[in-house]
Amino acid sequence: MNYRHIYHAGNFADVHKHLILMMALDYLQQKEKGLFILDAFAGIGLYDLTRPEPQKTMEYLGGIARIMSEPAKNPDLLAFQKMISLFWGAKQYPGSPILAATVIRDQDRLVVNELHPEDTETLKYHLRGFRNVRVTAEDAYQSIRAHIPPVERRGIILIDPPFEKPDEFKLLIDQMDQWKKRWSSGCFMVWYPIKAGQPIPELHKAAQNLGINRTWVSEILLRKRDMAGGLNGAGIVMFNAPFGLAEKVQGLSDEFCTKLGDSWIENRFLINE
Ligand SMILES: C[S@@+](CC[C@H](N)C(=O)[O-])C[C@H]1O[C@@H](n2cnc3c(N)ncnc32)[C@H](O)[C@@H]1O
Repeated sequence: MNYRHIYHAGNFADVHKHLILMMALDYLQQKEKGLFILDAFAGIGLYDLTRPEPQKTMEYLGGIARIMSEPAKNPDLLAFQKMISLFWGAKQYPGSPILAATVIRDQDRLVVNELHPEDTETLKYHLRGFRNVRVTAEDAYQSIRAHIPPVERRGIILIDPPFEKPDEFKLLIDQMDQWKKRWSSGCFMVWYPIKAGQPIPELHKAAQNLGINRTWVSEILLRKRDMAGGLNGAGIVMFNAPFGLAEKVQGLSDEFCTKLGDSWIENRFLINE
């Protein structure tokens, strides 16, 4: 486990993922009933952008720094900027655990899971004082299986692997089948990198073959997807995407990419029922 998210915190892919996560949570919270949220690959929760790691890569300068440059016109993008501004003044960028912990209500329950022992401790420290949050240190796929279906029967599972293992796509494809069997109505949000030669068509095909309602894909690209040697973009596959989310993301994609510069977003349903 060599991957350290701090090198990449706040980059274009993080911002695309976190914006969609926050919009999905907002939709799910339109109903009073409590939600279960599992962040299966959580990271450390909060990133100090003045530390040597982000200063070495400077990835956040091409991501969140551009998004924060001036107030957005789109109300959802503006709401996201307001959320980030709670941390931005202190030169920090919030990861998915802190973002979710900041918006959960009394009736919601958040489990954040991180396997790296040091990172688990840092995550616990960053989440001290937040209510309804539990930090666990299991293998992510085991944690997902143990928590679904949740008693709340509503909620979202974020699956954001580091893709260190060459077979991570295959692992995901194998696991997705089990998620459907255990919780076919659950909202699952899977993140993946877009690099040349990755089996992304296979991932999409497998996702489509599951036949889950509103299986939706959002991809952000900086370069042609088959360009050799680096991260060309990043994608999200979401099962049971909340009604209306896809249209709202489509509505802000142009403004998001104009802010980011030299990028484009491709949104499409694999299944829209
Ligand atoms: C991409 S980062 C997570 C970023 C975070 N979701 C966010 O958006 O702020 C992936 C994390 O998964 C952890 N990890 C790697 N393998 C894991 C496993 N099998 N189970 C749980 N966590 C794992 C890594 O230590 C790393 O912190």
